[in-house]
Amino acid sequence: MPKYVLTGATGGIGSRVFKHLLDLVPASEIVVSLYNPAGATPAITSSGVEVRRGDFSDSASLEAAYAGAEKLLIVSYPSIAYEVRVKAHKAAIDAAKVAGIKHIYYTSLAFASDSKAAVMQAHLDTEAYLKESGLTYTIIREGIYNESWQLYFGWWDPKEGSDEVVIPYTDGSIAWACRDDLGEGTAKIIVAESGYDNRQVLLSGSQSTTLSELATTLSELLSRKLTLKIVTLPEFIAHNTPKTPIELIESWSTTWTAIGRGELAVKDPLLKELLGREPVTVEETLNNLFSGKEDGVNALSYLA
Ligand SMILES: NC(=O)c1ccc[n+]([C@@H]2O[C@H](COP(=O)([O-])OP(=O)(O)OC[C@H]3O[C@@H](n4cnc5c(N)ncnc54)[C@H](OP(=O)(O)O)[C@@H]3O)[C@@H](O)[C@H]2O)c1
Repeated sequence: MPKYVLTGATGGIGSRVFKHLLDLVPASEIVVSLYNPAGATPAITSSGVEVRRGDFSDSASLEAAYAGAEKLLIVSYPSIAYEVRVKAHKAAIDAAKVAGIKHIYYTSLAFASDSKAAVMQAHLDTEAYLKESGLTYTIIREGIYNESWQLYFGWWDPKEGSDEVVIPYTDGSIAWACRDDLGEGTAKIIVAESGYDNRQVLLSGSQSTTLSELATTLSELLSRKLTLKIVTLPEFIAHNTPKTPIELIESWSTTWTAIGRGELAVKDPLLKELLGREPVTVEETLNNLFSGKEDGVNALSYLA
């Protein structure tokens, strides 16, 4: 009988959880639930785990995909559209109940419980729904990915030539963490037999870095003098239109409102404890990225 079902195992964080889970438990205990089983990665197909089809918009597929397992990891649906996202997560939680899952782990985000960030609202509503589900839950608020730095730089793209990084409202600190460390920490939480029941935890880096500090790091790495320019919302909108839809600009601008409140600056020792070492810093990830040691990640794709 499988014990663990993972969603999102082909994706940015889910693939890392999968990789680290395989180091901790036998493949025979793992099922991966994929929206598109034909897109299973070589890491999945070569591992010997069972692959099932589970589409967040098809409840019957989710019930079949989760059947027989004890623990389910729901990786949040990769969209920032509030309703689509909450609907997907609720469908997965409802299906887990029908399928007899005992414990759900949900990848939430590191913003605050009273967050002003639009992107956090679907996570907060999912968290509330999960807490009321009657199942054992663990909400894992995943730190802001080092790899998603461009989003917090107001979609600044090094290839576009401008040395001005334009953001609205304010600068602030972020306790960044890399996806591989978050994947490892998440896998270790999932296999733990106790300690995380009906809890919400935060996985963050051990250090926090402001956007202006990051601009300094990038200036050195790119041998260009970057300037962080803080503007009003109308100026931010004008700067990003017509390339980006105005609704998206307005919605994403609330991220800096949240950053200004210190929502992302919170450092929690849990990730370091789980890893047994210091988490990789955002400076290290950027260094690897721009020295070619790490594959480029198109952070902007997250806002599709
Ligand atoms: N913490 C942060 O800083 C941060 C930054 C950016 C994004 N995020 C959020 O974190 C989450 C995970 O990010 P990620 O980078 O791992 O995303 P990702 O690489 O886009 O992967 C998401 C997974 O969702 C699966 N999926 C897509 N449609 C589905 C459907 N209808 N039903 C079931 N599964 C479906 C995908 O396909 P398959 O099931 O076919 O494999 C994929 O494996 C997303 O919600 C993302 O928005 C967090």
